[in-house]
Amino acid sequence: MTAVGIDAIEIRTGKLELDLAETFAPAKGEEPEKYTKGLGLHSSSFPDAYEDIVTMGANAAHRLMERKGLTPADIGRIDVATESAFDNSKPVSTYIAGCLEQVYDGDFHHANKGERKFACVAGTQSIDDAYNWIRAGRHRGRAALVVATDTALYARGDPGEATQGAGAVAMLITEDPDLVALSTEQGYGSADETDFLKPNQQFPSVDGKRSVQVYLARMREAVRDYESVAGEIPPDEFVLLPFHTPFPGMVRKAAALAYRHMIRDTAVEEELAPDIGRQPRPEAFDTDEEYVDAMGEYTDELVETDRYLDWYEATVDPTLSISREVGNWYTGSVHVARASGLKHALESGMDLTGETLGVASYGSGAQAEVHAETVQPGWEAEIEALNVDEQLEARYSISYEEYKHIHDVHNHDKDTDAEAEAFTPPEAEFVFDGWGRMGERKYRYVE
Ligand code: CAA
Repeated sequence: MTAVGIDAIEIRTGKLELDLAETFAPAKGEEPEKYTKGLGLHSSSFPDAYEDIVTMGANAAHRLMERKGLTPADIGRIDVATESAFDNSKPVSTYIAGCLEQVYDGDFHHANKGERKFACVAGTQSIDDAYNWIRAGRHRGRAALVVATDTALYARGDPGEATQGAGAVAMLITEDPDLVALSTEQGYGSADETDFLKPNQQFPSVDGKRSVQVYLARMREAVRDYESVAGEIPPDEFVLLPFHTPFPGMVRKAAALAYRHMIRDTAVEEELAPDIGRQPRPEAFDTDEEYVDAMGEYTDELVETDRYLDWYEATVDPTLSISREVGNWYTGSVHVARASGLKHALESGMDLTGETLGVASYGSGAQAEVHAETVQPGWEAEIEALNVDEQLEARYSISYEEYKHIHDVHNHDKDTDAEAEAFTPPEAEFVFDGWGRMGERKYRYVE
């Protein structure tokens, strides 16, 4: 069977940066370590006044198309995953196609366009749709463009405020991909949850502590479902394990549970037993509560072992480097984690061709999805082409007053126009250009 997967990837960060330790923590009267150590975040990315989900998505897609030498005729689908849409009818993909048509001869009139919504898991779902479209033989040799783009803003004063972020990830899904091939096997953990939602409102209503527990519960279900089709996952199965990363501290919790699960009934569990005992088994306890408490104690000891720390350092920590600097990008977050891990591998001179990644996506509301990816021979050139370091370096660092201004600029309930004060000059990119006669957002390309 021909491989189908991600052929190319581009990352576009919002052009502003809020330093959490230096700027946000003093303004909030909090210790910087709450953010840097507890949540594991250094900065948040924000869109400048002329940026939004369309410009970030279009700019990422444009660079991807240029780099791969594509024209609109090569694209048969444009799917946008977002939870920051500003229109309940016209999909963001039409705006992005409209932007791209300004700079290409030809158009996307024969491309199927849509918008996917299921909180942060929608980016992965869009890849899934593209995979199925290609596998079904309906693509006529064309590629699918998937864009995960979000401005992850919380109301000011919300506990989630420290985890904000903004950026887009554009991905090209093809046959014989250069980056990673997707497994047929998938696992889902999905339930009707009210942990994080936006009922006709821009900023989320969040039950923060519960959202963490729901993330872990759905992820556990998804792993079991994956194993029911792919078989039990051995502890050394995945060379990298990119998770949905609302903040790295969340992944720290998820990784501990994943490792504990993978080593159960394996030689690793036996090797660790002299030091920390074997994992508790439910039949040894009178109540669920006692069992859960014992599991918690075992996990606390497990994460202190060299064996676990080495695994975490190699398999999970590299996936968090970009996230630490940009915050939560919702639909793009797990795709940033994949790119971050592969970038680290490239910079460390590792040969990953043929190795397996475990990709663990999550969206509130709530659904987790787990699948495997096989790294393809062209991965090094693809990852080398990323310019994310240059983008991060070039960001304008905002003061707390400037942060409040930019938060207001992107607040849908406040009047925003194309003249709102920007902190950086646009250059060779799509920008927001004001409102049209039917309330639509307009865009233009700035040379
Ligand atoms: N030094 C070191 N660590 C410190 C510290 C200090 N001075 N002060 C606090 N910490 C630690 C805390 O112990 C805590 O770590 P643990 O969870 O490991 O105990 C961590 O820093 C955060 O501190 P708090 O729990 O006190 O932080 P909070 O209550 O203000 O906010 C949050 C945490 C509820 C997760 C909040 O950030 C939030 O609501 N975020 C948005 C929701 C979210 O991202 N949920 C994640 C799962 S849902 C999801 O993934 C979907 C999505 O994208 C939104």
